[in-house]
Order: sequence, then C-alpha cells, then structure tokens
Amino acid sequence: MYAFHEHEVSFADEKSGSVFAAPALSAPRSNPGEAPLDIASLRERLRGCKYGFPLHYFENVASTNAVALKLSKEGAAEGTMVLADRQTAGRGRLQRVWQSPAGCNLYFSVILRPKIALAKAPQLTFLAGVAVADTLASFCPEGVEIKWPNDVLINQRKVCGILSELNAEQGKIAAVLGIGVNVNMKKEDFASEYRQSATSLREETGRMHPREEVLCSFCTYFQRRYELFLNEGFEPLRQAWLFRTKMVGKNVRVRFGKEIKAGVVSGLDEDGALLLADAKGALERIIAGDATIIKE
Ligand code: BTN
Repeated sequence: MYAFHEHEVSFADEKSGSVFAAPALSAPRSNPGEAPLDIASLRERLRGCKYGFPLHYFENVASTNAVALKLSKEGAAEGTMVLADRQTAGRGRLQRVWQSPAGCNLYFSVILRPKIALAKAPQLTFLAGVAVADTLASFCPEGVEIKWPNDVLINQRKVCGILSELNAEQGKIAAVLGIGVNVNMKKEDFASEYRQSATSLREETGRMHPREEVLCSFCTYFQRRYELFLNEGFEPLRQAWLFRTKMVGKNVRVRFGKEIKAGVVSGLDEDGALLLADAKGALERIIAGDATIIKE
C-alpha cells in the first residue's frame, strides 16, 4: 500500500486494532445543536451517482481510508464510498493525525479502479483536490484555492485535506481517495496548534451548511472531473488545478523529510510535479513534500 506522494509503504498497522473498530464512546458530540447526518436520504440521493454508491456509513470508525483500503482488497466496486461521522484515528499526509470530531465535518473515502498505467496514478490525487475546490467555491464563491499538492484553502486557511493511497496488484490499480472537509467546525474546536492555519466552511461563510448538501455536490463535481480525466487524460485537470491555485509566481519552500527546497513556482508539469525556478531560472521538479508560501 502506498501513499501516492510519499512513495513509501505506510499505514500497514492499525493502532486501534481492527480497521472497523472504534473505542467505546462516551465523548459527547462536539456540536450538539447540529442535525446528525441523514443517511437514508443521502443513500437515496447518491443512488444516481456513479461515485458515492454503494455507501458504507459508520458513526464511529478508526479511519475511512483504512476501511476503504480493506474493502478494495476484498474487491469492492469502483465508486464505493466509506463515510464516517467521526474518526478515532483519522490519518493525514506525512503520518499526521487528522482531527475528526463527531457531528460537524465530512470524512469520506472513495474507491477508484481506473484503467491507467501505475505511473499515472499520482495524477488521481489532483482529482479530489479540484473537485473539492469546485464544491467549496459553489458554497463560498470567494477565497477558495488549492495549495500543492492538494490542500484546499479558504482565505489562506486549510479547509480540506486529502490522503490518496493505492493498492496495485498485477497491473490493476485500486486507489482510495480519502477526503476530510471541515464543514461546520467552530474555530474554538480546532486543536490550538491548528487554530490559526485551519478553518471551516462555516467560519468562512458565517453560517452552517448541511453536510449532505456538501457531499452530494462533491459527488457531482467529482464525476464530471473523473470522467474527463478518463476520456482526455491529465491535461484538463492540470488546467483546472492551475486555475484554482494562487501559487504560481509565489516564493515557496517545500520540505520533504529533512530536505528543504525553495524557489518561485512556475507551474505544474504533466505528471503533477510542482515546477520550482531557482534564482537563475533553472527549473526543478518537486514530486513530494509540504509546501509553504512565503509571505512577502
Ligand atoms: C492531510 O491533509 O494531511 C490529509 C488529511 C486526510 C483526511 C481524510 S479524512 C477521511 C480519510 N480518512 C482518513 O483517515 N484520512 C482521510
């Protein structure tokens, strides 16, 4: 199992035992005023969607990605979605934890089985970022942007994270796109270390949004983007990504492990690598890491 951009074997162990298990719950819901997810109507609405059906819903789960990876190994169909109200071991890129309280956000993973070369699999990770940005821009027309590789920000604060993982056996790819969107989380509920850098759709628009609406909207945009990708390749997605990013022309620092690269972003290449120009204009392709835009 690989995390696309990290190119490392990861997450083979489940800290909390079975991937389906979640510790016994006594914690209260973090937003008691909010309506719980209406799964029956969500299932009904997603029945017409190619991606988002069948839907496996968990009130509590360790990680939707872990469940989706397990289901994909058991042969689950393309489009299968795993959705949770709360994750007890939500995982982020670079071995980080994804804060996943109950009652306020979306945590879901989609299984894809594209017939593409393994070398092209990293391109899939941009799909989710672009589809989430399309979705969020439809609820919040100003300020949505993508930061390489696929963090979605509103007004420069992170509102969505994406963790793409892959199973490939005998040339057949099963990809899991794991997506966490902060929908109705309140600023004070973010862990203190993220309070400045993270946000939610609610914080940015000043009102709550039904999570079902956000998810259904995502499924519609996602289908459009994915079918275009399957029919026409990466180029339309690359263009959409460039339209949604504000990184081009900016000074950035990219950290990968102990290595740090700095330069001016000049674009995204046909494989999804970030193109960084150094002081002499020489271009370097960056295929993995954590990017920070340097404020001037
Ligand atoms: C990141 O920005 O570090 C990626 C965060 C990805 C979080 C989502 S929530 C749904 C899915 N399940 C997980 O355990 N992680 C992803």
